[in-house]
Amino acid sequence: MRTLMIAGGAGFIGSNYCRLVLERHPDYRIVVYDKLTYAGNPANLADIADDPRYTFVLGDICDADAVRAAIRKHDVDTIVNFAAETHVDRSLSEPGAFIMTDVYGTHVLLEAVRELGLERFHQVSTDEVYGEVLTGSSAECDPLAPRSPYSASKAGGDMMVLAYHASFGLPVTITRGSNNIGPYQYPEKVVPLFITNAIDDLPLPIYGDGHQMRDYQYVEDHCEGIDVVLHHGVPGEIYNLGSGVETRNIDMATLLLDLLGKPHSLLQYITDRPGHDRRYSVNIEKVCALGWEPRHTFAQALEKTVRWYVENEPWWRTIKSGDFYRAYYEKHYAGREIKPD
Ligand code: NAD
Ligand code: TYD
Repeated sequence: MRTLMIAGGAGFIGSNYCRLVLERHPDYRIVVYDKLTYAGNPANLADIADDPRYTFVLGDICDADAVRAAIRKHDVDTIVNFAAETHVDRSLSEPGAFIMTDVYGTHVLLEAVRELGLERFHQVSTDEVYGEVLTGSSAECDPLAPRSPYSASKAGGDMMVLAYHASFGLPVTITRGSNNIGPYQYPEKVVPLFITNAIDDLPLPIYGDGHQMRDYQYVEDHCEGIDVVLHHGVPGEIYNLGSGVETRNIDMATLLLDLLGKPHSLLQYITDRPGHDRRYSVNIEKVCALGWEPRHTFAQALEKTVRWYVENEPWWRTIKSGDFYRAYYEKHYAGREIKPD
């Protein structure tokens, strides 16, 4: 491997992965291929913009000609695919975009890998494809039971990746990561939304009773895991990635307020998300056997994440003050407050 196309590299996890590759692999070049949707942001890559080993290509993974042209032009031998529509709440109101990018777009990349004979394709997937897990933890061989248009689309993408391995022998791997937190996460996702609202003394909108559980892992740990699987994973195999520890949303929100020195009165219960998955949990034994382990506890991950948002206000204020974000926030959250009896 020498030249990685990092599809979706201008988003949250992809941009963190770009930094990791440039640090860890001095002889690699990276080509970020990204459509720059609302979630893609050149500012996420500003600190590597002048690195001679980095190139940016504006493009859609659904555009087969553009994908092939970028691969040929930059002599790409490996694709790591982060590109996706990613927010569950948006998938409930506009599922079509999710099916296009997360399923069809993945297929376009796979076709390019097949036709151009690339060395490797890695798909960045999610633990949400297993559906809600009320007890125990999901193993990679568990059946998929996605319940939102987002997770169903990601599951469809995974199925295409596995089908291209079985049908055409493509050298693919898949990671299924749990919820990430850390620098450059778009503030529609719960942790950056809550941190930035709390800084501004705005309410933290808790869906339902707040007892839903997520495995919030630090984005650097997730990126290290992806890199380990890319280099040491067995083609055709799936690897879960997470911290292995779940936290209730209400506990995450309370800890976050404590870290910021803000009152718990900012917690505001609102009507629940339709079809809200109660709990996700992944078994990470398989990836740990490759030599990876998470390096941050949940408390460390949240503390680092809070500090980054405190120290990088211009980054998120630019997003939150824009018309696009404000229109979404108003449409999504207005009138949902649950009045106490
Ligand atoms: P994000 O929404 O922050 O970024 C997605 C990126 O993909 C953006 O830069 C966007 O412009 C780009 N993109 C979207 N559609 C595209 C298209 N058609 N062509 C090219 N680029 C396109 O997402 P993220 O949180 O960084 O997630 C990255 C990947 O990791 C996704 O595949 C997601 O399913 C997966 N994942 C995310 C989490 C999480 O907690 N955020 C957890 C596990 C897995
Ligand atoms: P989110 O960040 O959207 O990730 P996902 O749904 O993919 O896990 O949400 C994480 C958890 O936080 C989930 O249980 C839903 C909950 N949540 C809230 O309680 N309030 C909010 O405003 C948001 C966006 C999420």
